[in-house]
Amino acid sequence: MTDLLSEARTGFEERFGYAPGGIWSAPGRVNLIGEHTDYNEGFVLPFAIDRRTFAALALRDDGLVRVASSLEDEAVEVGLTDASPAVVKGWAAYPVGVAWGLGKVGADLAGLPGFDVYFASDVPLGAGLSSSAAIESALAIALNEVWRLGFDGARLVEAAHLAENDFVGAPTGILDQSASLLSREGAALFIDCRDGSSEPVDLALEASDLAILVIDTKVKHEHVSGGYAARRASCELAARELGVAALRDVTIEQLLEARDRLDDETFRRARHIVTEDQRVLDTVETLRTDGPTAIGDLMFASHRSMRDDFEISTPELDLAVEIALNYGALGARMTGGGFGGSAIALTPVSMLTQVQVAVDSAFSEHGYTMPEMFVVRPSQGARRDK
Ligand code: GLA
Repeated sequence: MTDLLSEARTGFEERFGYAPGGIWSAPGRVNLIGEHTDYNEGFVLPFAIDRRTFAALALRDDGLVRVASSLEDEAVEVGLTDASPAVVKGWAAYPVGVAWGLGKVGADLAGLPGFDVYFASDVPLGAGLSSSAAIESALAIALNEVWRLGFDGARLVEAAHLAENDFVGAPTGILDQSASLLSREGAALFIDCRDGSSEPVDLALEASDLAILVIDTKVKHEHVSGGYAARRASCELAARELGVAALRDVTIEQLLEARDRLDDETFRRARHIVTEDQRVLDTVETLRTDGPTAIGDLMFASHRSMRDDFEISTPELDLAVEIALNYGALGARMTGGGFGGSAIALTPVSMLTQVQVAVDSAFSEHGYTMPEMFVVRPSQGARRDK
């Protein structure tokens, strides 16, 4: 962590030739349960992980924005008030989109100075762990401070979410930005995506001798196009057919009664959302009453629903989940948007090695790319580090 902090500072100095004014950071996330429910105005339960993106930043005395990172050789330059989705492409659209998004939620960009920013990160890219939300959130919290905007967390979530939806063009919900900006150490964040309200739910993993193991299948996912947008369209179609604002408003009984009004695929997409919302509520309740050892079945039920009804899993994710469960995990599921990325396995600490060895050998037997596995700890959301 400290290494990344100095990497961000040194990177900034080498790229821009002077010292940054401060360093801020924001984490990636895993979602414990509640997948694709966010844009259906339902419930999610993510937590921020101990992998972060650091943003070293300084204000300029003109209106220019320069963004650079350890991943790219070139810095991208654009005028603060000229930034538009048509002008900025590639990864730079995430940070530039945040400045633009802050303008959309009330910052007066014409009256504000530009900035130089350099990013260094250990959130793996394309692993379904929200590397993009980590960039957005680190910059949002930095600009909120140096521009003296005084926006609360919910408004920063809105700005970062606008960046992703309207600047980058990925039709995602508020899960990732909320988790990265608002999470508390040691807890998951229970979010009601209808009004954006959230509360921490104690995870008590260590006290129960449990760990969350991430199994990154190395199958890269992409949310700007394709399956993610198609799933969202199916959910919106189902809500329209059922005459509700969002699938959040449908109970499982109502959905079953209305089965004839939906084609089979749309029905199964909706059934995932409606049952997943209930599983999030049940998980929160179970964590509070019985602790984390008792949530394993809910996690696997969620995975089955994503595999069979929502159809966003992959053979690699299914194998990771199956093997983890067979070799000692209490619960396992794919996490994030799907079509690749990572699974998580709730695993007794004493079984971690056994699970990893078994997953490795199963992947090698199937001829799959070798997965990367690591334990993640529930960590603090976005903050100033220096
Ligand atoms: C991606 C999106 C989120 C959410 C998840 C699925 O991570 O960015 O908004 O929809 O997929 O739960």
